[in-house]
Amino acid sequence: MIDPSIVRVALEGLLAPRKTLPPFLFYDEEGCRLFYEITALPEYELTRTERGLLPEVGRAVAAEVGPNAVLVEYGASHEEKAGFLLATLGAFQRYIPIDVAAPALRQLQDRMALSYPGLSVLPVAADFMLDLVLPPMPAEAPILGFFPGSTIGNLEPHAARDFLVRVRATLGPGARFLVGADLRKSPALLIPAYDDAAGVTAAFNRNLLVRLNREAGADFDPLSFRHEARWNDSESRIEMHLVSRRDQTATIDGTPIHFAEGESIHTENSYKHTPQRLLALARQAGWIERRRWMDPAERFGHFLLEQG
Ligand code: AVJ
Repeated sequence: MIDPSIVRVALEGLLAPRKTLPPFLFYDEEGCRLFYEITALPEYELTRTERGLLPEVGRAVAAEVGPNAVLVEYGASHEEKAGFLLATLGAFQRYIPIDVAAPALRQLQDRMALSYPGLSVLPVAADFMLDLVLPPMPAEAPILGFFPGSTIGNLEPHAARDFLVRVRATLGPGARFLVGADLRKSPALLIPAYDDAAGVTAAFNRNLLVRLNREAGADFDPLSFRHEARWNDSESRIEMHLVSRRDQTATIDGTPIHFAEGESIHTENSYKHTPQRLLALARQAGWIERRRWMDPAERFGHFLLEQG
């Protein structure tokens, strides 16, 4: 089934002088499955390190916000991480998970009706990068936004700043925001995390082309593109690329796209900010740091922000 909006997005990225595809295209069903597999790879520490901190962060943050609060999670296809905050009895009365995947939100709501019977779960099926309307909240309730998983690293710094400004507007004055971010570290650790020995990340990257073949009427030969993870030191980011192994032409819904040998499609940026850099972006958006939690090696940080 050809999806005209995916054809449009793919052509826009691949007809440009420097070819790109947007990372949201990774997450079809197979892409979600491969990403889940990535989170368990020995080379990919991000998810394990984040989760290792969450029990303490959850307890501390729930105590900070006080009783009868509202938890608003950005990008919430599963309640697992929020569970560390919701586990503190009486702290949260409402949970508003926001995600583009409406079916995942329905399943989440069904599960939570059983596991958190006293909690009101009010899912919002929307792209949180666009303007959001949240369900009405009690005027006095403390509000906590939650943005785990280092998703903020996929955003260009200017887009991260704009996003943080919008979150402030959406959550309202007095709200706090808990952001989890993978931090700048040695490329010797980062490159294998994005180019693992088992080839799962390579399959995740090439799955973009498999998806375009199915949903954009394309005819890519995915194996004629090599997966590459590059560390861009001046931008402080990991880049993922698909590099053409040969001179070739693919078509997308009848439109030819030419690739020279060695030419790349830039498929993802994963920024690895220092805490200082992340907090500078937050400050430009009107947020200041209240508390932070990091692992001893300072590879991942949870930052609790309040309005400055
Ligand atoms: C889900 C955006 C945090 O950047 O590490 C994993 C996605 N890409 N391996 C990341 C990803 C390649 C991941 N995020």
